[in-house]
Amino acid sequence: MSYISIVDLGSQYAHLIQKRLTYLSLRSVLTSGFTKEVYDSDAVIISGSPMSSLRDDISEIKNNIIRIINQGKPFLGICFGNQVLAEIYGGKIVKRAEYGRTRVSIDSIEGILEGFSSTEEVWMSHSDCVIDAGSGKAISLSENGCISAIKIPGKPVYGVQFHPEVTHTKKGDLIFKNFAKISGMSYKEISVHDKVSLYYQQVVDEIRSLYKGGRIVSAVSGGVDSTVSTYITMKVVGPENVIPVFINHGFFRDGEVEDVLNELKAIGIDPIYIDASREFIEKTMNIVSCEDRRKTIGELFARKLFEVIKEKEASYLIQGTTYPDLIESGRTKHSRRIKSHHNVAGLPDWFNVQIIEPLKGLYKDEIRELGKILGLPREIIRRHPFPGPGLAVRIIGRLTPEKLEIARKADRILSDILKRERIYEKLWQALAVVSRSWVGVKGDEREEGYIVNIRLLLSEDGMTADYYLPEKRIVDEIARKIANNVENVTAVSFVTTTKPPATIEPC
Ligand code: XMP
Repeated sequence: MSYISIVDLGSQYAHLIQKRLTYLSLRSVLTSGFTKEVYDSDAVIISGSPMSSLRDDISEIKNNIIRIINQGKPFLGICFGNQVLAEIYGGKIVKRAEYGRTRVSIDSIEGILEGFSSTEEVWMSHSDCVIDAGSGKAISLSENGCISAIKIPGKPVYGVQFHPEVTHTKKGDLIFKNFAKISGMSYKEISVHDKVSLYYQQVVDEIRSLYKGGRIVSAVSGGVDSTVSTYITMKVVGPENVIPVFINHGFFRDGEVEDVLNELKAIGIDPIYIDASREFIEKTMNIVSCEDRRKTIGELFARKLFEVIKEKEASYLIQGTTYPDLIESGRTKHSRRIKSHHNVAGLPDWFNVQIIEPLKGLYKDEIRELGKILGLPREIIRRHPFPGPGLAVRIIGRLTPEKLEIARKADRILSDILKRERIYEKLWQALAVVSRSWVGVKGDEREEGYIVNIRLLLSEDGMTADYYLPEKRIVDEIARKIANNVENVTAVSFVTTTKPPATIEPC
């Protein structure tokens, strides 16, 4: 059976390429190097990479790509892949960055760009720019003067500088459909519902085969991932065998702990409640570096969870690990760690209990669909993602009780307004981030206070995100209410930088 190989050279988005192909029913393998599977495949896609041909030795990569092209295989280089292609054909690269939304003009509406208009909006994430395609043909140019697509004449070989795999590149799917056509493969679009329904049947069978009796502990947070995975496992092995645990680490939002516990109870998940907030706060206060804070919280969380596992003599732990978590934790040799997310990948070595991960083949949008299929309430399905370390990663600089309180109060004001205005559900996330400092004048007094940075985001998967700005009346209300009602806040700003280049959480 024919398949496409995707060579992951360390891109943050490599697994999204595979997701796009899956939704076109195209078989693919994701590899972290030029393996035999790549040479045996029918067509090859090269992902982006943090590497730069201006800085790193990429001769081995080039040699492999030349061999693949000489085999006559259809080839698509994405981002870094586009740059390497230009280099192979004698082109020129310079240092010039493009991140996020970018307009490109299309010179040749055919081949990989069939179906595109003469100008398109795409998303970029690169710091090197192709300015000469050598003997390759430049078929698209960005508004910043970078060659955004290349065709190698007489060969089924293309490069695109933008990321067709991210949802914000509106016509990204067309690139993969065109590549399938170029590769002589037929594709058929499938829906999220179909994919998830099939997956559900498989995961039920998998839990049945893994479970050999005994107790299962599951850490719940109210997030859709942990709720759906706990709910499914309870259905399969019986609720009496599953012990849900809610650990309060003290970084939750105002009223969130009570809300979550009530919502969970309503669907039959009644967790053991462990209030470890004092311990977490004591251990993290005054830590300046966000990465250190993340690690301290992750480690303590794992210890607390392990205490319950030992006490209950449980044999298994359920984790709401998603497909991106799984892929990102076993990253390729070329990838860079952006942040230490505290999930299964962060569990320490001593955490030796069998893990069940019912959602490990799914993305967040698919998990929400599964939640719908299971009949879970809308509040749980549509709840915004919330980072494991909670408000602790929404504070810039030293963590202090005062800043934590500001983050909590500002978040409450922000969410109340967004919910009342029916904006909340449109958004992927809404953040209130605390940073220093702005001189204020409050009632004729000088006051040097904190800045609250509001970040409202539109996204389907959190891999890329666009900012959202409400109408002026609402912007004004958010800014006024926070500055007037939260002590020691002297300025409110709205962050209008997309991801990339800015990540969603500030640290
Ligand atoms: P970034 O900030 O990396 O975030 O653009 C992408 C998505 O992941 C969420 N996030 C986390 N989720 N544990 C989690 O479970 C974490 O440590 C963590 N840090 C960030 C973030 O809120 C966004 O939705």
